Amino acid sequence: MATESKHILAGKKGIIFGVINETSLAWAVAKQCVNEGATIVLTNTKAAVKLGTTQQLASSINMPFIPCDATKIDDLEHLLTQSQELLGGKIDFVLHAVAQSMNLRRRKPYEDICYPYFQKTLDISAVSFHKLLQTAHKLDALQNGASVLTLTYIASERSMYGYNDMSDAKALLESIVRNFGRFLGEQKHIRVNAISQSPVPTKAGSHWDNESYFLDYTNQLAPLGNATADDLADLCVMMFSDYTRRVTMQTIYNDGGFSKTILTPSLIDSFKNITPKENCN
Ligand SMILES: NC(=O)c1ccc[n+]([C@@H]2O[C@H](COP(=O)([O-])OP(=O)(O)OC[C@H]3O[C@@H](n4cnc5c(N)ncnc54)[C@H](O)[C@@H]3O)[C@@H](O)[C@H]2O)c1
Repeated sequence: MATESKHILAGKKGIIFGVINETSLAWAVAKQCVNEGATIVLTNTKAAVKLGTTQQLASSINMPFIPCDATKIDDLEHLLTQSQELLGGKIDFVLHAVAQSMNLRRRKPYEDICYPYFQKTLDISAVSFHKLLQTAHKLDALQNGASVLTLTYIASERSMYGYNDMSDAKALLESIVRNFGRFLGEQKHIRVNAISQSPVPTKAGSHWDNESYFLDYTNQLAPLGNATADDLADLCVMMFSDYTRRVTMQTIYNDGGFSKTILTPSLIDSFKNITPKENCN
């Protein structure tokens, strides 16, 4: 459950990428932004519209939908121009919740990935964020002090079996956050941050065979348990609000403490019945 509305985004205008269906993290964020008084545009690719329910979900909250492939500059220009027209001014906040890896989908192991897929992974999941920020800057589409967020995962900085080339994409994404964050901060006090989110079952995660075991593991290890989509929505609202006006260029962990924990009593218990490997004395 997300928290009760305090209208802390009243009067703000936002663009939310990445709603494909009700399980999308971006959907939880979109709903909470509207609860908090914002007006928003939802956007996704034309292919996602056919596969999912983006347009129906936009209608359900009485907000417009504009198609956009985040890897295409023409589409981004159209989205940013149209959004300002529809919402009546410059954009106060953006959520980039965009990722895709064909290597993951096709279950290619990291040591044998397909390079054209790898380039696509980087373009969709990381470079699209640069394209979005560069296009927004050129069009002067963002308000002074606007807040831009992207979603990342801790496999950007730790080796994680199964996350494949998405690890490399997330590392690049976090670097873009820092580098564009500095520039836009100096130019217009615009904040650019990444939220490193706990695992949540969504369409993107469904291509990974070990997802359910992993969710149990992270939930057990995190002192506060896994952060849900609603937890993420509350954090995004805070980051889009004026309360966080000097937070920028950060990777913020919304993971119940998982990233800072290596051992807990319950993890030891779960190993007690497993025959240990031989140790050398
Ligand atoms: N679910 C998790 O456990 C988790 C954890 C940490 C971070 N994230 C990140 O959160 C973000 C959202 O993922 P999600 O889990 O909600 O899954 P999701 O599948 O609901 O969202 C991914 C979205 O990316 C969109 N997309 C793909 N290619 C695009 C393109 N070219 N242009 C525009 N949009 C495009 C898809 O249509 C989809 O809406 C991703 O960046 C993901 O890596 C997810």
